[in-house]
Amino acid sequence: MTPLIELRDGTKSYRGVHAVKDVNFDLLPGEVHALLGENGAGKSTLTKMIAGVVDPTAGEIYLEGKRVEMRSPADALSRGIAMVYQETSLVPSLSVAQNIYLTDQQHFHRLRGLYIAGQQFLQSLNFNVDPTALVQSLGAGQKQMVEIARAVHHQAKVIIFDEPTATLTPEEKHQFFSLVKRLRLRGVSIVFISHALEEALAISDRITILRDGELVLTAPTAELDREKIVQAMVGRALTEELYGTAERDIRKPGKKILSVQNLSMNNIVRNTSFSVFAGQVTGMFGLIGSGRTEAAKIIAGVDKRDFFHGGQIRLDGQPVRYRVPRPAVKDGIIYVTEDRKQEGFFETMSISENLYMGALAGGVTKSKTVNMREMKEIAQTWTEALSVRAINNDARVIELSGGNQQKVVIAKALVQKPRLIIFDEPTRGVDVGAIAEIHQLIHQLAEDGVAVLMISSYLPEVMKISDRILVCRQGRIVEELDGSEADEAMIMYAAVH
Ligand SMILES: Nc1ncnc2c1ncn2[C@@H]1O[C@H](COP(=O)(O)OP(=O)(O)OP(=O)(O)O)[C@@H](O)[C@H]1O
Ligand SMILES: [Mg+2]
Repeated sequence: MTPLIELRDGTKSYRGVHAVKDVNFDLLPGEVHALLGENGAGKSTLTKMIAGVVDPTAGEIYLEGKRVEMRSPADALSRGIAMVYQETSLVPSLSVAQNIYLTDQQHFHRLRGLYIAGQQFLQSLNFNVDPTALVQSLGAGQKQMVEIARAVHHQAKVIIFDEPTATLTPEEKHQFFSLVKRLRLRGVSIVFISHALEEALAISDRITILRDGELVLTAPTAELDREKIVQAMVGRALTEELYGTAERDIRKPGKKILSVQNLSMNNIVRNTSFSVFAGQVTGMFGLIGSGRTEAAKIIAGVDKRDFFHGGQIRLDGQPVRYRVPRPAVKDGIIYVTEDRKQEGFFETMSISENLYMGALAGGVTKSKTVNMREMKEIAQTWTEALSVRAINNDARVIELSGGNQQKVVIAKALVQKPRLIIFDEPTRGVDVGAIAEIHQLIHQLAEDGVAVLMISSYLPEVMKISDRILVCRQGRIVEELDGSEADEAMIMYAAVH
């Protein structure tokens, strides 16, 4: 069978460093091909070469056996190749429907028609998104659904999904996978990039694994399992730590640092009350959209105050109410965002600069003026602690792979030496090895006496590192469990019933 698309000896280097090296990759008609590898392995770069986003340093691309050059994303799209990016590429100030039909000029002047078409189209995909809503008002999961809808709308022959499921609820994931099956039946070929290995095993026909920019293997999915995949990804045998099966003790609560009483915001956070203690990890589990992010943002002063309806927040027993993040940071409260692109860092600044900005904001620098040496030291310490993979610490954050950007966001928060740290989906988009490292760091924070609140939709993560678990549903805390007694079934039951 002639591959629909093929990359031969594809290489991409940046300033002499290989992001992808001599990779041969092909995609058969109607195939779902999963592309796996650690953060920075080259997955996004490889697929961006095919989608006309990144210009290969060397190598050739063949479309149905014919040599082609992908000059731009628009060029690739006109040849039937669409990509759904890891970092959203939507226009925030336009509506959902406008984004989906962005390049269809004739539609663009008649808004009503556009919304009706958008409504029908989204419904046909079983996506629950309002076509008239502005993209900037959507949560991460819904933005992702709009991205997916846009690619499907273009009737592409090849659709590349770069971590499409990381921000979706279980229900939305289900819709997405049934969409993939339907597309496949229509002969569409799909590249599926994910850190969720079970998902890749479940939906792909073949799997390709990259390591350090090089191809390790391509094989039919039926010949692989989780263990073989992880081994190929990381190039070494598995440790207990990687699987998180090691036994651990539940920490006792220290001093009550934060207490929240009857917090309410619109219908998203409803009369929520809870406390967070020093020296402990309080896990907050709930499905995406259960109001956890919103509550965290009110606490840390990140959300706009006009949405805040009532309730009380106390820090060390004293009422506080932050309208902007700065005073919260001064008081030692840090919120580590789930939406790194929008709120996490200054993407055109270097890693060092970003971390130093964090240190300055937290008032933890030795000197009050900019000190280049201290900046270097801070960057060195934290990129090592989190194994941030970059050419060096002067690299701009925008040049890092998605997972490494996430590590910088976390490092920037830790630099500030918080007393209360709120992690919102800390390991989203992060590879299996790095997840273990981040979990280790979170444990260490609690050991060091920091009050940790961790919001997560990833149940194994909540189970593995929480000392206490709060379960949210529809804007309320519906259950509080001790980390030693909770099991997956109990938590999930509380979250959905
Ligand atoms: N514009 C750029 N400038 C310099 N280096 C880059 C650029 N884009 C990517 N890189 C480097 O290329 C390597 C591969 O990055 P890529 O984004 O393809 O990884 P990935 O496999 O998609 O990782 P992740 O799972 O974290 O998304 C990384 O080391 C990254 O820092
Ligand atoms: Mg990537």
